[in-house]
Amino acid sequence: MDQMKRDEIYQRAKEWVLEAGEHIRDVIDEPLTIDTKSNPNDLVTQMDRNTEEFFAKKIKGTFPKHKLLSEEGFGDNLDNLDGTVWIIDPIDGTMNFVHQKRNFAISVGIYQDGVGEIAFIYNVMEDVLYHAKKGDGSYKDDVKLPKLDKKVTLDQSILLINSLWSGENKRINHQKIQNLVRKVRGTRSYGSAALEFAGIAEGILDGYISMKLYPWDFAAGVILIEEVGGTTTQANGDPLNFLIENTVFSGNIQVAREIIDNYIELK
Ligand code: IPD
Ligand code: CA
Ligand code: CA
Repeated sequence: MDQMKRDEIYQRAKEWVLEAGEHIRDVIDEPLTIDTKSNPNDLVTQMDRNTEEFFAKKIKGTFPKHKLLSEEGFGDNLDNLDGTVWIIDPIDGTMNFVHQKRNFAISVGIYQDGVGEIAFIYNVMEDVLYHAKKGDGSYKDDVKLPKLDKKVTLDQSILLINSLWSGENKRINHQKIQNLVRKVRGTRSYGSAALEFAGIAEGILDGYISMKLYPWDFAAGVILIEEVGGTTTQANGDPLNFLIENTVFSGNIQVAREIIDNYIELK
């Protein structure tokens, strides 16, 4: 994508992300319509749907040739990433949105022929915008984020992982995860993949393991992390597939190889 085109799309996307976030803040205390999707803990609200519809209308009205891959049904059915594709999670961290009214984000990653070009992760209630343009580095609001500290060691790392995976389960060898949990300095789980990626890009968290993320959960995060010199792959180190759900490892390159080789054994 040429720079003028990238700058134009970035500017429009930024306006829409901030506008959508401002609207969510304005109505945050109004009653919510809450439904469940795949299971009783998989929540969706009218706000998830309305926010995605807002983006779909803006994108299709302004850039009719662009495509949309998104969570709540307003996107296109894609079997490839040809052309300009917006990958959007209108609210990442819906359980936090419902229960806490905070700790959720709008996540927008924009790809050209499969290459990450533009990313926004907006922590709506804190009004903090993480953003990146390919080749220009990653930013938290106006502050450019430094490259990740290459000297961090595993025993000084904070790892993002859901505690489910350290108990017996169908997806991953839990004994190796227990060893990893003992090895690192501490673990965290924030309930918004997008904010977890943003924390890694900021250098305040060092690694993130997930057994199930969709492209809209990671599309923006991958770009933010790439721009500060980190890595995001499937949990076994293979490249991500942007058309299906994936296991994910993301983090500092220094700890990535060690975790993937010694502590992750998928079943
Ligand atoms: C979820 C959050 C959560 C992650 C789940 C995602 P949603 O997204 O990112 O942190 O563990 O796998 O589905 O449903 O709140 O958009
Ligand atoms: Ca999500
Ligand atoms: Ca969502």
